[in-house]
Amino acid sequence: MSAPHTPGGPRPSEATAPTGTERLASGVAPTIAVAGRAPGGRLAPAAAGPAAPPLAASAPATTLAEPQAAAAAVRPDGARRHARIAVLGASGYTGQEFARLALAHPGLELTVLSSREHAGRPAAELLPGLDPRIHTLPAVTDPAALPGLLEQGAFDTLVCCLPHGAWRALAAEVPALARLPQRIVDLSSDHRDGSGGYVYGLPEAFRAEIADAARVANPGCYPTAAALAMLPAAEHGWIGGPAMVSALSGVSGAGRSPALRTSFVELDGGAAFYRVGVEHAHVAEMERSLARLAGSAVEVAFAPQLAPMARGILLTATLPLASALTPLEVQAAYRERYAGEPFVRMLDPGQWPETRVVRASNRCDLAVTTVHGGRTLVATAALDNLVKGAAGQAVQNLNLMLGWPENWGLPAHGTPW
Ligand SMILES: NC(=O)c1ccc[n+]([C@@H]2O[C@H](COP(=O)([O-])OP(=O)(O)OC[C@H]3O[C@@H](n4cnc5c(N)ncnc54)[C@H](OP(=O)(O)O)[C@@H]3O)[C@@H](O)[C@H]2O)c1
Repeated sequence: MSAPHTPGGPRPSEATAPTGTERLASGVAPTIAVAGRAPGGRLAPAAAGPAAPPLAASAPATTLAEPQAAAAAVRPDGARRHARIAVLGASGYTGQEFARLALAHPGLELTVLSSREHAGRPAAELLPGLDPRIHTLPAVTDPAALPGLLEQGAFDTLVCCLPHGAWRALAAEVPALARLPQRIVDLSSDHRDGSGGYVYGLPEAFRAEIADAARVANPGCYPTAAALAMLPAAEHGWIGGPAMVSALSGVSGAGRSPALRTSFVELDGGAAFYRVGVEHAHVAEMERSLARLAGSAVEVAFAPQLAPMARGILLTATLPLASALTPLEVQAAYRERYAGEPFVRMLDPGQWPETRVVRASNRCDLAVTTVHGGRTLVATAALDNLVKGAAGQAVQNLNLMLGWPENWGLPAHGTPW
Protein backbone atom coordinates (compact mmCIF):
# COMPACT_ATOMS: atom_id res chain seq x y z
CA MET A 1 0.00 0.00 0.00
CA SER A 2 1.23 3.49 -0.63
CA ALA A 3 0.01 7.01 -0.09
CA PRO A 4 -1.96 8.58 -2.93
CA HIS A 5 0.14 10.54 -5.38
CA THR A 6 -0.51 14.26 -5.08
CA PRO A 7 1.33 16.20 -7.76
CA GLY A 8 1.72 19.91 -7.15
CA GLY A 9 -0.18 22.58 -9.01
CA PRO A 10 1.05 24.31 -12.11
CA ARG A 11 2.88 27.59 -12.19
CA PRO A 12 0.61 30.58 -12.72
CA SER A 13 -0.41 31.18 -16.27
CA GLU A 14 1.85 33.71 -17.85
CA ALA A 15 0.79 34.36 -21.37
CA THR A 16 -1.84 34.44 -23.95
CA ALA A 17 -1.13 33.94 -27.55
CA PRO A 18 -3.47 35.51 -29.95
CA THR A 19 -2.36 35.42 -33.52
CA GLY A 20 -4.11 37.23 -36.32
CA THR A 21 -7.61 36.92 -37.58
CA GLU A 22 -6.22 34.37 -40.02
CA ARG A 23 -6.48 31.69 -37.35
CA LEU A 24 -9.94 32.74 -36.35
CA ALA A 25 -11.13 32.13 -39.85
CA SER A 26 -10.70 28.43 -39.19
CA GLY A 27 -13.66 28.60 -36.83
CA VAL A 28 -11.82 27.10 -33.87
CA ALA A 29 -14.37 26.09 -31.27
CA PRO A 30 -13.86 27.34 -27.73
CA THR A 31 -12.71 24.74 -25.26
CA ILE A 32 -14.16 23.69 -21.93
CA ALA A 33 -12.36 25.59 -19.22
CA VAL A 34 -10.03 23.98 -16.76
CA ALA A 35 -11.81 25.21 -13.70
CA GLY A 36 -8.99 25.45 -11.21
CA ARG A 37 -6.99 23.18 -9.01
CA ALA A 38 -7.73 21.36 -5.84
CA PRO A 39 -4.97 21.11 -3.26
CA GLY A 40 -2.42 18.65 -4.54
CA GLY A 41 -2.56 19.97 -8.07
CA ARG A 42 -5.50 18.00 -9.33
CA LEU A 43 -8.00 19.85 -11.36
CA ALA A 44 -11.07 20.89 -9.47
CA PRO A 45 -14.35 19.60 -10.85
CA ALA A 46 -15.18 21.28 -14.12
CA ALA A 47 -17.16 24.32 -13.12
CA ALA A 48 -16.84 25.74 -16.55
CA GLY A 49 -20.40 25.27 -17.58
CA PRO A 50 -21.37 25.07 -21.21
CA ALA A 51 -18.89 26.07 -23.86
CA ALA A 52 -19.37 29.45 -25.48
CA PRO A 53 -21.00 29.61 -28.91
CA PRO A 54 -18.82 29.34 -32.03
CA LEU A 55 -16.75 32.40 -32.74
CA ALA A 56 -17.31 34.91 -35.42
CA ALA A 57 -14.31 35.27 -37.70
CA SER A 58 -13.64 38.75 -36.37
CA ALA A 59 -13.76 37.90 -32.67
CA PRO A 60 -10.67 38.82 -30.69
CA ALA A 61 -8.39 35.84 -30.20
CA THR A 62 -8.55 36.04 -26.41
CA THR A 63 -12.14 34.81 -26.60
CA LEU A 64 -11.04 31.54 -28.10
CA ALA A 65 -10.85 29.84 -24.76
CA GLU A 66 -13.77 29.86 -22.34
CA PRO A 67 -13.76 33.23 -20.47
CA GLN A 68 -12.22 31.90 -17.25
CA ALA A 69 -9.49 30.08 -19.12
CA ALA A 70 -8.83 33.02 -21.40
CA ALA A 71 -8.53 35.36 -18.44
CA ALA A 72 -6.00 33.01 -16.87
CA ALA A 73 -3.95 33.13 -20.04
CA VAL A 74 -3.53 36.91 -20.08
CA ARG A 75 -0.39 38.12 -18.38
CA PRO A 76 -0.95 40.97 -15.90
CA ASP A 77 1.18 43.30 -18.01
CA GLY A 78 -0.98 42.48 -21.00
CA ALA A 79 1.97 41.06 -22.93
CA ARG A 80 1.09 38.54 -25.57
CA ARG A 81 3.18 35.61 -26.62
CA HIS A 82 3.02 32.61 -28.81
CA ALA A 83 5.28 29.66 -29.56
CA ARG A 84 6.95 29.36 -32.95
CA ILE A 85 7.05 25.70 -33.80
CA ALA A 86 9.30 23.54 -35.98
CA VAL A 87 7.97 20.05 -36.66
CA LEU A 88 10.64 17.45 -37.34
CA GLY A 89 9.21 14.49 -39.26
CA ALA A 90 6.20 16.48 -40.50
CA SER A 91 5.44 13.93 -43.22
CA GLY A 92 4.67 11.16 -40.71
CA TYR A 93 1.33 10.39 -39.12
CA THR A 94 2.01 12.13 -35.81
CA GLY A 95 3.75 15.06 -37.52
CA GLN A 96 0.74 15.62 -39.77
CA GLU A 97 -1.68 15.32 -36.87
CA PHE A 98 0.37 17.76 -34.82
CA ALA A 99 0.35 20.24 -37.72
CA ARG A 100 -3.44 19.95 -38.02
CA LEU A 101 -3.94 20.60 -34.29
CA ALA A 102 -1.35 23.39 -34.15
CA LEU A 103 -3.05 25.28 -36.98
CA ALA A 104 -6.30 25.23 -35.02
CA HIS A 105 -4.56 26.45 -31.84
CA PRO A 106 -4.48 30.18 -31.24
CA GLY A 107 -1.12 30.13 -29.45
CA LEU A 108 0.93 27.90 -31.70
CA GLU A 109 2.47 29.17 -34.91
CA LEU A 110 3.84 26.61 -37.34
CA THR A 111 6.93 28.23 -38.80
CA VAL A 112 9.00 25.24 -39.95
CA LEU A 113 7.92 21.90 -41.40
CA SER A 114 10.74 19.48 -41.95
CA SER A 115 10.90 16.32 -44.04
CA ARG A 116 13.74 14.67 -45.94
CA GLU A 117 11.52 13.28 -48.67
CA HIS A 118 9.36 16.35 -49.27
CA ALA A 119 11.97 19.10 -48.74
CA GLY A 120 11.44 21.87 -51.27
CA ARG A 121 7.92 20.69 -52.12
CA PRO A 122 4.79 22.74 -51.24
CA ALA A 123 3.53 22.10 -47.71
CA ALA A 124 0.01 21.55 -49.03
CA GLU A 125 1.34 18.42 -50.73
CA LEU A 126 2.76 17.16 -47.45
CA LEU A 127 -0.42 17.98 -45.52
CA PRO A 128 -3.22 17.29 -48.00
CA GLY A 129 -5.98 17.56 -45.38
CA LEU A 130 -5.22 21.20 -44.57
CA ASP A 131 -6.72 24.11 -46.45
CA PRO A 132 -3.91 26.42 -47.58
CA ARG A 133 -6.47 29.20 -48.25
CA ILE A 134 -6.87 29.63 -44.48
CA HIS A 135 -3.28 29.31 -43.35
CA THR A 136 -0.15 30.19 -45.19
CA LEU A 137 1.95 27.12 -44.57
CA PRO A 138 5.72 27.40 -44.31
CA ALA A 139 7.91 25.82 -46.97
CA VAL A 140 9.03 22.24 -46.30
CA THR A 141 12.70 22.15 -45.36
CA ASP A 142 15.26 19.39 -45.00
CA PRO A 143 16.14 18.59 -41.36
CA ALA A 144 19.70 19.74 -42.15
CA ALA A 145 18.39 23.32 -42.44
CA LEU A 146 16.99 23.40 -38.90
CA PRO A 147 20.13 24.59 -37.06
CA GLY A 148 20.41 27.61 -39.39
CA LEU A 149 16.71 28.40 -39.04
CA LEU A 150 17.02 28.16 -35.27
CA GLU A 151 19.93 30.61 -35.32
CA GLN A 152 17.84 33.02 -37.42
CA GLY A 153 15.05 32.81 -34.83
CA ALA A 154 12.59 31.07 -37.17
CA PHE A 155 11.40 28.85 -34.32
CA ASP A 156 11.75 28.56 -30.56
CA THR A 157 9.97 25.23 -29.99
CA LEU A 158 10.85 21.89 -31.56
CA VAL A 159 8.37 19.04 -31.85
CA CYS A 160 10.13 15.80 -32.84
CA CYS A 161 7.96 13.26 -34.63
CA LEU A 162 10.71 10.86 -35.67
CA PRO A 163 10.96 7.07 -35.34
CA HIS A 164 12.57 5.75 -32.18
CA GLY A 165 16.30 6.47 -32.05
CA ALA A 166 16.29 9.07 -34.85
CA TRP A 167 15.99 12.14 -32.58
CA ARG A 168 18.64 10.86 -30.20
CA ALA A 169 20.99 10.26 -33.18
CA LEU A 170 20.27 13.67 -34.72
CA ALA A 171 20.76 15.42 -31.38
CA ALA A 172 24.16 13.75 -30.98
CA GLU A 173 25.12 14.82 -34.50
CA VAL A 174 23.84 18.41 -34.16
CA PRO A 175 24.03 19.27 -30.44
CA ALA A 176 22.86 22.86 -30.97
CA LEU A 177 19.50 21.55 -32.18
CA ALA A 178 19.00 19.72 -28.91
CA ARG A 179 20.39 22.54 -26.75
CA LEU A 180 19.07 25.80 -28.12
CA PRO A 181 15.29 25.56 -28.58
CA GLN A 182 13.41 27.00 -25.62
CA ARG A 183 11.16 23.96 -25.61
CA ILE A 184 11.34 20.46 -27.08
CA VAL A 185 8.59 17.85 -27.08
CA ASP A 186 9.79 14.46 -28.34
CA LEU A 187 7.10 12.00 -29.41
CA SER A 188 9.46 9.03 -29.65
CA SER A 189 10.50 6.73 -26.83
CA ASP A 190 14.08 8.05 -26.86
CA HIS A 191 13.80 9.98 -23.59
CA ARG A 192 10.75 8.49 -21.88
CA ASP A 193 13.09 7.02 -19.27
CA GLY A 194 14.00 10.56 -18.20
CA SER A 195 17.38 10.57 -19.94
CA GLY A 196 18.72 13.90 -21.20
CA GLY A 197 16.69 15.82 -18.61
CA TYR A 198 13.35 15.04 -20.27
CA VAL A 199 10.21 15.01 -18.13
CA TYR A 200 7.62 12.30 -18.81
CA GLY A 201 4.65 14.08 -20.35
CA LEU A 202 1.54 12.45 -18.93
CA PRO A 203 -0.35 15.55 -17.73
CA GLU A 204 -2.95 13.73 -15.63
CA ALA A 205 -0.15 12.30 -13.48
CA PHE A 206 2.77 14.71 -13.68
CA ARG A 207 1.43 18.12 -14.68
CA ALA A 208 3.45 20.13 -12.16
CA GLU A 209 6.74 18.74 -13.51
CA ILE A 210 5.65 19.29 -17.10
CA ALA A 211 4.72 22.89 -16.36
CA ASP A 212 8.29 23.53 -15.19
CA ALA A 213 9.98 21.58 -17.98
CA ALA A 214 11.77 22.72 -21.12
CA ARG A 215 12.16 19.15 -22.43
CA VAL A 216 9.22 16.74 -22.44
CA ALA A 217 9.09 13.12 -23.60
CA ASN A 218 5.57 12.49 -24.82
CA PRO A 219 4.25 9.08 -23.67
CA GLY A 220 3.51 6.26 -26.06
CA CYS A 221 -0.08 5.62 -27.12
CA TYR A 222 -0.47 2.24 -25.41
CA PRO A 223 1.26 3.47 -22.21
CA THR A 224 -1.03 6.53 -22.08
CA ALA A 225 -4.14 4.34 -22.17
CA ALA A 226 -2.63 1.85 -19.72
CA ALA A 227 -1.51 4.51 -17.24
CA LEU A 228 -4.87 6.29 -17.28
CA ALA A 229 -6.69 2.94 -16.85
CA MET A 230 -4.63 2.06 -13.76
CA LEU A 231 -3.68 5.46 -12.30
CA PRO A 232 -6.34 5.72 -9.56
CA ALA A 233 -5.74 2.10 -8.51
CA ALA A 234 -1.99 2.77 -8.31
CA GLU A 235 -2.40 6.03 -6.40
CA HIS A 236 -4.75 4.38 -3.89
CA GLY A 237 -2.27 1.55 -3.31
CA TRP A 238 -4.80 -1.04 -4.43
CA ILE A 239 -2.52 -3.03 -6.73
CA GLY A 240 -1.90 -6.44 -5.22
CA GLY A 241 0.13 -8.17 -7.96
CA PRO A 242 1.22 -8.15 -11.61
CA ALA A 243 -0.93 -6.38 -14.20
CA MET A 244 -2.06 -7.93 -17.48
CA VAL A 245 -2.65 -5.39 -20.25
CA SER A 246 -4.31 -6.33 -23.50
CA ALA A 247 -4.93 -3.80 -26.28
CA LEU A 248 -6.09 -3.42 -29.85
CA SER A 249 -4.39 -0.75 -31.94
CA GLY A 250 -5.24 0.88 -35.24
CA VAL A 251 -2.62 0.54 -37.96
CA SER A 252 -1.48 4.19 -37.90
CA GLY A 253 0.19 3.26 -34.61
CA ALA A 254 2.86 1.53 -36.66
CA GLY A 255 3.84 4.70 -38.53
CA ARG A 256 3.72 5.53 -42.21
CA SER A 257 6.56 3.45 -43.58
CA PRO A 258 5.17 0.67 -45.77
CA ALA A 259 5.44 -2.86 -44.35
CA LEU A 260 3.91 -6.18 -45.31
CA ARG A 261 2.35 -6.62 -41.87
CA THR A 262 0.42 -3.36 -42.18
CA SER A 263 -0.64 -3.75 -45.81
CA PHE A 264 -4.38 -3.84 -46.60
CA VAL A 265 -4.46 -7.44 -47.76
CA GLU A 266 -2.65 -8.72 -44.69
CA LEU A 267 -4.94 -6.83 -42.31
CA ASP A 268 -8.37 -6.62 -43.84
CA GLY A 269 -10.99 -8.79 -42.18
CA GLY A 270 -8.95 -9.90 -39.18
CA ALA A 271 -6.99 -8.89 -36.10
CA ALA A 272 -3.70 -10.30 -34.86
CA PHE A 273 -1.61 -10.46 -31.70
CA TYR A 274 2.07 -9.51 -31.87
CA ARG A 275 4.97 -9.50 -29.39
CA VAL A 276 2.88 -10.91 -26.54
CA GLY A 277 4.53 -11.16 -23.14
CA VAL A 278 7.11 -8.71 -21.86
CA GLU A 279 9.11 -8.01 -25.03
CA HIS A 280 7.16 -5.02 -26.35
CA ALA A 281 9.09 -1.79 -25.65
CA HIS A 282 6.01 -0.29 -24.00
CA VAL A 283 6.11 -2.79 -21.12
CA ALA A 284 9.03 -0.99 -19.48
CA GLU A 285 7.31 2.38 -19.97
CA MET A 286 4.09 1.11 -18.35
CA GLU A 287 6.06 -0.35 -15.44
CA ARG A 288 7.94 2.93 -14.91
CA SER A 289 4.72 4.97 -14.74
CA LEU A 290 2.97 2.51 -12.45
CA ALA A 291 5.96 2.34 -10.11
CA ARG A 292 5.97 6.13 -9.81
CA LEU A 293 2.23 6.28 -9.21
CA ALA A 294 2.06 3.32 -6.81
CA GLY A 295 5.33 4.05 -5.01
CA SER A 296 6.51 0.48 -5.58
CA ALA A 297 7.30 -1.81 -8.51
CA VAL A 298 4.40 -3.25 -10.51
CA GLU A 299 5.07 -6.01 -13.05
CA VAL A 300 3.28 -5.76 -16.38
CA ALA A 301 2.68 -8.28 -19.17
CA PHE A 302 1.25 -7.06 -22.43
CA ALA A 303 -0.75 -8.56 -25.31
CA PRO A 304 -0.81 -5.97 -28.15
CA GLN A 305 -3.03 -6.59 -31.16
CA LEU A 306 -3.27 -5.01 -34.57
CA ALA A 307 -6.83 -4.33 -35.71
CA PRO A 308 -8.04 -3.36 -39.20
CA MET A 309 -8.80 0.27 -38.40
CA ALA A 310 -6.78 3.40 -39.13
CA ARG A 311 -6.82 4.88 -35.61
CA GLY A 312 -7.71 3.97 -32.08
CA ILE A 313 -6.58 2.03 -29.04
CA LEU A 314 -8.95 -0.18 -27.05
CA LEU A 315 -7.28 -1.43 -23.89
CA THR A 316 -8.09 -3.70 -20.95
CA ALA A 317 -5.95 -3.75 -17.81
CA THR A 318 -6.57 -6.60 -15.40
CA LEU A 319 -5.14 -6.27 -11.89
CA PRO A 320 -5.27 -8.32 -8.72
CA LEU A 321 -6.41 -6.09 -5.87
CA ALA A 322 -4.70 -6.04 -2.47
CA SER A 323 -8.15 -6.16 -0.82
CA ALA A 324 -11.54 -6.86 -2.35
CA LEU A 325 -13.52 -3.88 -3.68
CA THR A 326 -17.00 -3.69 -5.16
CA PRO A 327 -17.61 -2.32 -8.66
CA LEU A 328 -19.33 0.70 -7.08
CA GLU A 329 -16.33 1.44 -4.85
CA VAL A 330 -13.83 1.47 -7.71
CA GLN A 331 -16.19 3.39 -9.98
CA ALA A 332 -16.67 6.07 -7.31
CA ALA A 333 -12.93 6.39 -6.69
CA TYR A 334 -12.13 6.66 -10.41
CA ARG A 335 -14.89 9.18 -10.92
CA GLU A 336 -13.59 11.33 -8.08
CA ARG A 337 -9.98 11.15 -9.28
CA TYR A 338 -10.84 12.18 -12.81
CA ALA A 339 -13.64 14.62 -11.99
CA GLY A 340 -11.72 17.70 -13.13
CA GLU A 341 -9.65 16.18 -15.91
CA PRO A 342 -10.68 17.76 -19.20
CA PHE A 343 -9.53 14.79 -21.28
CA VAL A 344 -10.49 11.77 -19.18
CA ARG A 345 -14.14 10.77 -19.16
CA MET A 346 -15.47 8.10 -16.81
CA LEU A 347 -18.38 6.33 -18.42
CA ASP A 348 -21.49 5.47 -16.46
CA PRO A 349 -21.84 1.92 -15.13
CA GLY A 350 -22.93 -0.37 -17.93
CA GLN A 351 -21.23 1.70 -20.64
CA TRP A 352 -17.89 0.63 -22.11
CA PRO A 353 -15.30 2.56 -24.13
CA GLU A 354 -15.33 2.54 -27.93
CA THR A 355 -12.57 3.73 -30.21
CA ARG A 356 -14.87 5.43 -32.68
CA VAL A 357 -16.39 7.88 -30.19
CA VAL A 358 -12.98 9.27 -29.22
CA ARG A 359 -11.67 9.41 -32.79
CA ALA A 360 -9.97 12.75 -33.56
CA SER A 361 -10.44 13.91 -29.96
CA ASN A 362 -7.88 14.34 -27.20
CA ARG A 363 -10.12 12.35 -24.87
CA CYS A 364 -9.58 9.02 -23.18
CA ASP A 365 -12.79 7.22 -22.17
CA LEU A 366 -12.60 4.82 -19.22
CA ALA A 367 -14.88 2.30 -17.51
CA VAL A 368 -13.99 0.04 -14.58
CA THR A 369 -15.44 -2.82 -12.60
CA THR A 370 -14.32 -5.63 -10.30
CA VAL A 371 -14.75 -9.39 -10.74
CA HIS A 372 -13.77 -12.59 -8.89
CA GLY A 373 -15.58 -11.47 -5.73
CA GLY A 374 -13.96 -8.03 -5.88
CA ARG A 375 -10.40 -9.37 -5.95
CA THR A 376 -9.68 -8.38 -9.57
CA LEU A 377 -9.97 -4.96 -11.16
CA VAL A 378 -10.90 -4.73 -14.83
CA ALA A 379 -10.15 -1.26 -16.24
CA THR A 380 -10.97 -0.46 -19.86
CA ALA A 381 -9.89 2.52 -21.98
CA ALA A 382 -10.25 3.94 -25.47
CA LEU A 383 -8.30 6.78 -27.07
CA ASP A 384 -7.15 8.00 -30.46
CA ASN A 385 -3.51 6.94 -30.76
CA LEU A 386 -2.67 9.96 -32.93
CA VAL A 387 -4.35 12.52 -30.66
CA LYS A 388 -4.42 11.70 -26.91
CA GLY A 389 -1.85 9.01 -27.70
CA ALA A 390 0.53 11.39 -29.52
CA ALA A 391 -0.02 14.82 -31.13
CA GLY A 392 -2.91 16.03 -28.94
CA GLN A 393 -1.04 15.09 -25.80
CA ALA A 394 1.98 16.99 -27.20
CA VAL A 395 -0.22 20.11 -27.51
CA GLN A 396 -1.57 19.50 -23.98
CA ASN A 397 2.02 19.37 -22.75
CA LEU A 398 2.95 22.54 -24.65
CA ASN A 399 -0.03 24.31 -23.10
CA LEU A 400 1.32 23.35 -19.67
CA MET A 401 4.91 24.30 -20.55
CA LEU A 402 3.75 27.69 -21.77
CA GLY A 403 1.54 28.33 -18.73
CA TRP A 404 -1.62 28.31 -20.82
CA PRO A 405 -4.95 26.62 -20.02
CA GLU A 406 -4.19 22.94 -20.42
CA ASN A 407 -7.08 22.25 -22.77
CA TRP A 408 -6.53 25.33 -24.93
CA GLY A 409 -7.18 24.69 -28.61
CA LEU A 410 -7.66 20.94 -28.16
CA PRO A 411 -10.65 18.90 -29.35
CA ALA A 412 -12.59 17.13 -26.58
CA HIS A 413 -15.24 15.80 -28.94
CA GLY A 414 -14.85 12.71 -31.10
CA THR A 415 -16.24 11.94 -34.52
CA PRO A 416 -17.80 8.46 -34.47
CA TRP A 417 -18.93 8.32 -38.10
N1 LIG B 1 1.77 6.61 -34.77
C1 LIG B 1 1.33 6.64 -33.51
O1 LIG B 1 0.18 6.33 -33.20
C2 LIG B 1 2.25 7.09 -32.41
C3 LIG B 1 1.74 7.28 -31.13
C4 LIG B 1 2.59 7.68 -30.10
C5 LIG B 1 3.94 7.88 -30.38
N2 LIG B 1 4.42 7.67 -31.63
C6 LIG B 1 5.85 7.88 -31.87
O2 LIG B 1 5.98 9.08 -32.63
C7 LIG B 1 7.09 8.97 -33.51
C8 LIG B 1 6.62 9.25 -34.93
O3 LIG B 1 5.65 8.26 -35.27
P1 LIG B 1 4.86 8.28 -36.64
O4 LIG B 1 3.82 7.25 -36.54
O5 LIG B 1 4.48 9.67 -36.99
O6 LIG B 1 6.01 7.78 -37.64
P2 LIG B 1 6.05 7.88 -39.23
O7 LIG B 1 4.68 7.99 -39.76
O8 LIG B 1 6.90 6.75 -39.67
O9 LIG B 1 6.80 9.25 -39.50
C9 LIG B 1 8.11 9.54 -39.09
C10 LIG B 1 8.70 10.56 -40.04
O10 LIG B 1 10.04 10.83 -39.63
C11 LIG B 1 10.85 11.04 -40.78
N3 LIG B 1 12.10 10.29 -40.55
C12 LIG B 1 12.26 8.97 -40.50
N4 LIG B 1 13.52 8.64 -40.19
C13 LIG B 1 14.19 9.81 -40.04
C14 LIG B 1 15.54 10.15 -39.73
N5 LIG B 1 16.45 9.20 -39.50
N6 LIG B 1 15.87 11.45 -39.65
C15 LIG B 1 14.96 12.41 -39.89
N7 LIG B 1 13.66 12.14 -40.20
C16 LIG B 1 13.28 10.86 -40.27
C17 LIG B 1 10.11 10.51 -41.98
O11 LIG B 1 9.85 11.60 -42.83
P3 LIG B 1 10.79 11.96 -44.07
O12 LIG B 1 11.26 10.65 -44.67
O13 LIG B 1 9.87 12.72 -44.96
O14 LIG B 1 11.90 12.76 -43.52
C18 LIG B 1 8.78 10.01 -41.45
O15 LIG B 1 7.68 10.47 -42.20
C19 LIG B 1 7.63 7.55 -33.34
O16 LIG B 1 8.74 7.58 -32.49
C20 LIG B 1 6.47 6.81 -32.72
O17 LIG B 1 6.85 5.72 -31.95
C21 LIG B 1 3.60 7.29 -32.65
